[in-house]
Amino acid sequence: MSFTVAIDGPAAAGKGTISRAVAAHFGFAHLDTGLLYRAVGARMLRGEDPVGAAEGLTQEDLADPDALRGPDVAQAASKVAVIPEVRAALVDYQRAFARRAGGAVLDGRDIGTVICPEAEAKLFVTASAEVRAARRHSELTERGIAADYADVLSDVRERDARDANRAVAPLLPAEDAAIVDTSDLSIEAAVARAVAEIRARR
Ligand code: C5P
Repeated sequence: MSFTVAIDGPAAAGKGTISRAVAAHFGFAHLDTGLLYRAVGARMLRGEDPVGAAEGLTQEDLADPDALRGPDVAQAASKVAVIPEVRAALVDYQRAFARRAGGAVLDGRDIGTVICPEAEAKLFVTASAEVRAARRHSELTERGIAADYADVLSDVRERDARDANRAVAPLLPAEDAAIVDTSDLSIEAAVARAVAEIRARR
């Protein structure tokens, strides 16, 4: 039996952490859909046409997620994500993943609204831009990537604006999504909230 959990929200709101914890808790498979757009962005940075890159995406492009985590790839990802043909090329893979037996958690921007409007549980995980920038900044610092807080904050705001204002699949909570604002929540409290919301829908 399939059970789909859709987790959407802006960059660095805690989606990834919550999604991994929720998937482990329920024994579901997890897909970070941002990686798909990052992989397309990385291929664009290497000179490829983004639509061709999205259509020809393979498991090999996703094999080294750490290589896709940098800010340049993130910016490239948010640029290719506005192209309707890029989004369309990635739909089937995400929907097939969502319907796998045993349950699936997909996190992204448009999972509850466009990819899986029939998902059994939908969460919209958010936090203030300042809190998200502070988290992303310490994450980068921990990984040894030098970054300035002000730059990270403007990067977060720039990506928010692009994600919210694009014509196709803008970042919006689904009408039936539970909103989880993690600005003032610890990781443990945020995960507990998410687990409780999902359990209520099972
Ligand atoms: O979540 P992450 O930061 O890895 O996503 C990178 C970029 O990919 C986002 O800024 C967003 O523009 C795009 N994205 C998207 N739809 C998704 C996941 C990511 O448009 N489902």
